[in-house]
Amino acid sequence: MKELIKELVESFGPSGYENEIAKTIRGYIQDQVDELYTDALGSLIAVKRGRGQGKKVMFSAHADEIGVVITHIDDQGFLRFSNVGGLNPLTLLGNRVRFSNGTVGVIGKEKGDPKDLSLDKMYIDIGADSKESATSKVNVGDFAIINREFADLGKRLIAKSMDDRVGCAVLIEVIRQLQPSPHDLYFVFSTQEEVGLRGARTSAYGIDPDLGVALDVTLTGDTPEAPRMDVGLGKGAAIKVKDSSMITHPKVKELMVQIATDQSICYQLEILERGGTDAGAIHLTRAGVPSGTISIPCRYVHSASEMVDIDDVKACIDLALAMTKADLSAL
Ligand code: CO
Ligand code: ZN
Repeated sequence: MKELIKELVESFGPSGYENEIAKTIRGYIQDQVDELYTDALGSLIAVKRGRGQGKKVMFSAHADEIGVVITHIDDQGFLRFSNVGGLNPLTLLGNRVRFSNGTVGVIGKEKGDPKDLSLDKMYIDIGADSKESATSKVNVGDFAIINREFADLGKRLIAKSMDDRVGCAVLIEVIRQLQPSPHDLYFVFSTQEEVGLRGARTSAYGIDPDLGVALDVTLTGDTPEAPRMDVGLGKGAAIKVKDSSMITHPKVKELMVQIATDQSICYQLEILERGGTDAGAIHLTRAGVPSGTISIPCRYVHSASEMVDIDDVKACIDLALAMTKADLSAL
């Protein structure tokens, strides 16, 4: 499991450029599903057919990650950039980025009060001494990701892009452990979540599911003087009640709580005051789709060092697996 997470988090896949990570995921699941295809916006969709009479269930974890896009290269060879997804200037300082061709750069800033720091006062230094030497490696319009290796702390793991490669790892593990289900199961590794839940929107339209379940990270309130939030690392799978993209369908929430209770899966209820998941897009598809989210608690989300607890990851796998077999006739 840790090896799987390590490989996924270290793969390249900023929003819109998910080819490499999708290929990695494909390698893990291609022999275990009935059908595997990529839709028009690049989402990888794996299908396991049910025994008939069941419902269509769409699980979604986003394969993309936050990053930067180059907007300008100056005469000294410094790169200016814009964000791809939500970036905090303070957590970028001193960090490195990596382009798809392997070029690495460090993020620096202009003079001025760090309190007023914004992305337009920052630049990327790839070690070039002129515009020409810079453009031999990188061009305007190129995307890069944060460059940081995975660290195993035992029960807890740190890496860039736990958001949402750990969700992808959960779905891969669910596919591996899957037992015959009455339902048709669609496992979507979606694109462009970080820029507005875009891949899941079109995938859900194409699949037209009866139930949507997103797997994604959520924030925690368990660090020194953290904003108040009732979610903590090591306290189990988080069953989302509400975020800014969706209010979980009450029947879906009740079903998840019931399953977790019946199967003694450790869980906690989550209200996320800002942020959304693929379920936000899925539930508004066509005439509406009852949807919910199983969240993996994560500290330092959208930084180079996002932290999760392996026991929470396992609880999320157990809960998602149980959902594949659930009686969905009440939905
Ligand atoms: Co995110
Ligand atoms: Zn996410």
